[in-house]
Amino acid sequence: MREVMRMYQVKDKIAFLEQNLTRKRFQHSCNVARAAKQLAQRYGADQEKAYFAGLLHDICKEMPDDEQRRLMLAGDFAPDEAELHSRKLWHGIAGAYFLQSEYGVTDRDILNAVRFHTVGRPGMSLLEEIIYIADMISDERDYKGVTKMRRLAYEDLQAAMLTALTDAIGSVLKKEGLIPQYTIAAYNSYLLHARLEESANAKKGSSS
Ligand SMILES: [Fe+2]
Ligand SMILES: [Fe+2]
Repeated sequence: MREVMRMYQVKDKIAFLEQNLTRKRFQHSCNVARAAKQLAQRYGADQEKAYFAGLLHDICKEMPDDEQRRLMLAGDFAPDEAELHSRKLWHGIAGAYFLQSEYGVTDRDILNAVRFHTVGRPGMSLLEEIIYIADMISDERDYKGVTKMRRLAYEDLQAAMLTALTDAIGSVLKKEGLIPQYTIAAYNSYLLHARLEESANAKKGSSS
């Protein structure tokens, strides 16, 4: 137990973030940590892990490109072709390896939550979904649709994931960017899940 407590201590990490992130990104990281903790409370996940992963999800975001690339390729977090060619996606993969190698984080769920926070994947764990969505609804976010996303996040996390992935894919297509296989597979799996649920509900409705 003592080991676990020490593992998620954040004081030294907060000092690192303060030194290595802009004021704005540092604030974002704190807000994501808070949103993640609240979502964890809502859905019965481990609040301490959620806070920890939320706080550290962008830890590599402002490192030089070369360093992000080195960290991305050093671990066993297998970037796909589109990720390799999309610099903005490197920081999640690099971040997972950074937490593992620099902070000795061994909890694969935390590592995966950081690794997949930009792209998603099919079969995401509850913690992975929480970090993905916390990043979308943190206090400073003010994009069109954020109010709806905040509501959805607390009503139905999987519906929030489907909406977030649909929006993400739509905006990448508009910019003629590459879409990671992980993201496409995640979109398909959440959509399929929603359709299966819909038809199960329809059947229930017609039999009652
Ligand atoms: Fe990020
Ligand atoms: Fe972020």
